Amino acid sequence: MKISIFGLGYVGCVSLGCLAKNGHQLIGVDINALKVDLINQGKPTIVEKDIDQIIREGHSAGRIAATQQAAEAVVASDISIICVGTPSSPQGHLNLDYIYKTAEQIGEALKGKDSFHTVVIRSTVLPGTNRKFGEVMAAVSGKERGKDFSVVSNPEFLREGTAVKDYYHPAITVIGGDHEGALEQVSSLYRDLDAPIEITAIEVAEIIKYVNNSFHALKITFANEVGNISKALGIDSHQVMELFCKDTHLNISPAYFKPGFAYGGSCLPKDLKGLVTLGHDQYVATPVLSGVHESNEYQKRTAYELIARTGKRNICFVGLSFKEGTDDLRYSPSVDLAEKLIGKGFRISIYDPNVRLSKLVGANRSFIDEHLPHLSDLIAEDLDTALAEAEVVLINHRNFDAAPHKEKLAQKDAVVDLVRIPELEDLPNYSGLCW
Ligand SMILES: NC(=O)c1ccc[n+]([C@@H]2O[C@H](COP(=O)([O-])OP(=O)(O)OC[C@H]3O[C@@H](n4cnc5c(N)ncnc54)[C@H](O)[C@@H]3O)[C@@H](O)[C@H]2O)c1
Repeated sequence: MKISIFGLGYVGCVSLGCLAKNGHQLIGVDINALKVDLINQGKPTIVEKDIDQIIREGHSAGRIAATQQAAEAVVASDISIICVGTPSSPQGHLNLDYIYKTAEQIGEALKGKDSFHTVVIRSTVLPGTNRKFGEVMAAVSGKERGKDFSVVSNPEFLREGTAVKDYYHPAITVIGGDHEGALEQVSSLYRDLDAPIEITAIEVAEIIKYVNNSFHALKITFANEVGNISKALGIDSHQVMELFCKDTHLNISPAYFKPGFAYGGSCLPKDLKGLVTLGHDQYVATPVLSGVHESNEYQKRTAYELIARTGKRNICFVGLSFKEGTDDLRYSPSVDLAEKLIGKGFRISIYDPNVRLSKLVGANRSFIDEHLPHLSDLIAEDLDTALAEAEVVLINHRNFDAAPHKEKLAQKDAVVDLVRIPELEDLPNYSGLCW
């Protein structure tokens, strides 16, 4: 395929070399004359393992060239891959000037091109950039997205220092777009890589890179805070984290990675607090671990606000314990939410097949006596009774068998879902907590 690459920095130079190595015809574009000259001499613009040889070979084979003329490169290619920089502004916002400048340049060049053109945004950009990029191209070229051109989002996951290796061995290749032909064309570029190709919505492809990198930063700071506390206590932090990584059920796994309601129960809040206090007593600051509780409280406030915004006062809780399949009410975020709603004058009813007041004993009973002393007045024996007066239904348990009750739920003013029950999502009165 004939491909132009906009931006010949770390990402662009590696893409240029690796795509040429895979047999494609490449033309690089950069505003920096020095970078263009280097490529035209068969030299890379960056220092990276293996890149010298890859660029040299591609150049010798006549598959790599570069220019400062955007129009020349667009006309000579079927696909333009955008790898220009997206630096932060001094205020911390993303500066997308280089991105939109290339949209103008490509739009201008398309005036002189009759064939369909695909643009691939490889740079890290905020959600919404792809669509705006297309608008700029359409306005400048007078051509139509979907008919004359397409814009595809394909974030780059390589890391400097191992860029070539990362290019050939990504965990996944993410491609977001709205044109089947363009998606097919871009997928074909990566078919030889030993990694699944994930076709997704444009905005999902745009945000994933931010989510990935934020999580990587979180992992590093989490390990460092564990390290600092461990060191203060004379514990080998590397031994701790090595062991931590061996739990592939709950630690290094998809467990818990579902956006939803706050955590609770008798262990997570208590043990997190215990570790933070341990750090505090050793004069070790733990801003990440300490921030976890605040984030959890925010999620409870978000749920409360979603209910309050309905303007209704009669709320039915489907599920009260901290998760399905248990009667443990201790530190259940739903108990907190119920307590807050009652305090604000809402009337609540509760349906939870596992919670029978007569069977609650010990710490579980004491907790509920302290937080919801009138639980027996609120809890219903069956769902129909709980729903009878309700205007808003709050779903809190994943195992709720919603299908048989869908019609009844549709008649309520609102269904607020804290766990994401797929069968309910098409109800007109449905609100998901964070989806
Ligand atoms: N460096 C990484 O490890 C890495 C990894 C993944 C993603 N990314 C993302 O990829 C993008 C590029 O990163 P990078 O590190 O390669 O940047 P870089 O600064 O090394 O290179 C960007 C290049 O774009 C050129 N440029 C700017 N405007 C241009 C225009 N209108 N036409 C042609 N060229 C133009 C610049 O001269 C520069 O050579 C960024 O969004 C970055 O966040 C970077």
